[in-house]
Parts: sequence; structure tokens; C-alpha cells
Amino acid sequence: MIVSLYQSNPRFGKLAENLDEVLTAVKPHKFDLLVLPELFATGYLFSDFNQAFLLAEEAGKGYVFETIRMLAAEKNGLVIYGFPERRGKRLFNSSLAVFPNGQYLLYQKSHLFDTEKEIFSPGETGFSVFSFRGARIGMMICFDWRFPEAARKLTLLGAQIVCHPSNLVLTHCPDAMITRALENAVFTITANRIGEEIRGEKKLRFIGKSRIISPDGKVLAQVDSHQTGFIASEINPELADNKRVTENNDLLADRRPELY
Ligand code: ACM
Repeated sequence: MIVSLYQSNPRFGKLAENLDEVLTAVKPHKFDLLVLPELFATGYLFSDFNQAFLLAEEAGKGYVFETIRMLAAEKNGLVIYGFPERRGKRLFNSSLAVFPNGQYLLYQKSHLFDTEKEIFSPGETGFSVFSFRGARIGMMICFDWRFPEAARKLTLLGAQIVCHPSNLVLTHCPDAMITRALENAVFTITANRIGEEIRGEKKLRFIGKSRIISPDGKVLAQVDSHQTGFIASEINPELADNKRVTENNDLLADRRPELY
């Protein structure tokens, strides 16, 4: 299976431009799975709830969804992307997995970062795992990395590939994801962005370093901190079914939940 990601450089609020950047970059490539960053089409640093509300979409509806649905169909691949989700009067920081036939599955970010709490409600979907082309896939979003329970829960649900749309600003995450991959023996795909956003006093610099990591903690492909880019790896998801560390150790069977 070919898994891939695109590290983008979105302009805040310029949905058409941001979609165009992604489509132009990914269209020449073949993939079974493509992961795009958190909030990839809108940008990240909303000035307030109302601004975010205007840029948000309901899950499975709207301009960004329709564009990604067409991409998934045209490329015959699964596309996972982050977006601000409007649900009634609330907003969630969400991701959708869009299948080539237009069906989709939703994840809402469980652990909100910093001032995201002023805009978004904490996710209510919880974690889930689904199958695509024989691979078992789960989603978590950006700051969820800081809570090892997120990737562990996906692993316990059977995930072989953890997809991780991100807008990283904390420098530890790319290396922490090696640990998340290793401690769970899963593939991880962190799709981050680059660039800066400034809103009033607040300035954020996004660190890039998007990575595809194997269950034994090897970085299979990465993009550096300063450029956009599409990367892909051909993987065998079944490698993530082997939780053995030594002849006598199994990552899941050796857990002692009664002590935790
Ligand atoms: C983050 O969760 N976007 C830092």
C-alpha cells in the first residue's frame, strides 16, 4: 500500500488558493492513502469564534469536502484532512477520512491546544478504527500526540496506521511520534504545515518536519522545516500486527492494566 502526505503552506482564509496548492502538488502522484494537515484549507489562528464559524463546514458538506471528495475519486485513494467542523451552534477541530466512493468517517480532536479552547468544543467522537484496502486505520489530530493514550487507544482498537493531521508548533512532536510508533508498533503519518500566522499579539510558527514512521521507529520519509512537499512510502500494514519485542515480550500482552 502506498501511504503519503503533503506538507503545505496555507494562507489564512484563502480556501481556494490552499486547495489549489494541495491539488497541484498531489495530482501527479499515485497513492492509496493521503494525509493532509489539520485545518489545511482555512489556516489555524482564527481571531474569534465567529470568524471560525464562517470558515467552517458541516461534516460531509461544502466546498472543501466536495473538492476532496473529487480528489479521492479521481485518485482512487483515501484522503484524510483536517477542517473546522460546524455542528449546530458549536465548532469542532475535526478530520475526515474520505473514501473514493464519497463515503466518509469523522474524528473530532480530543485534546485542544491552548487558545483552540476559545473556539472549539472538545471532541465527542472518541477514537475509532476502520478498514481500507485491508489496512486498519485510525485518526488523531496534532496535540493528541502529547497524550499517549490517544495512539494507544487506536492501537488497542487494532489500528495498523495512525494518521495524524497536524499544525505543529511545539518542537518535540516529530521525535515524540517516533516513540508513539515504537511503543505501539504502528505506522504513523504526521502531516504538518509550514509558515507563520500572526493575529494581534499572537504569532505562531509552524515547524514542518512531517514524517512517515514505521512500527520499529524508523523515519521512512520526511519533509524538512522550510519547504512544502509530497512524500510517500510503500508499506506493508501487516508489519504492525507483530507486537513482539523479544522472544519473551509482546507490547500488548505484557501490559499490566491492573497496575496502571
Ligand atoms: C496543535 O494542536 N495544533 C498544536
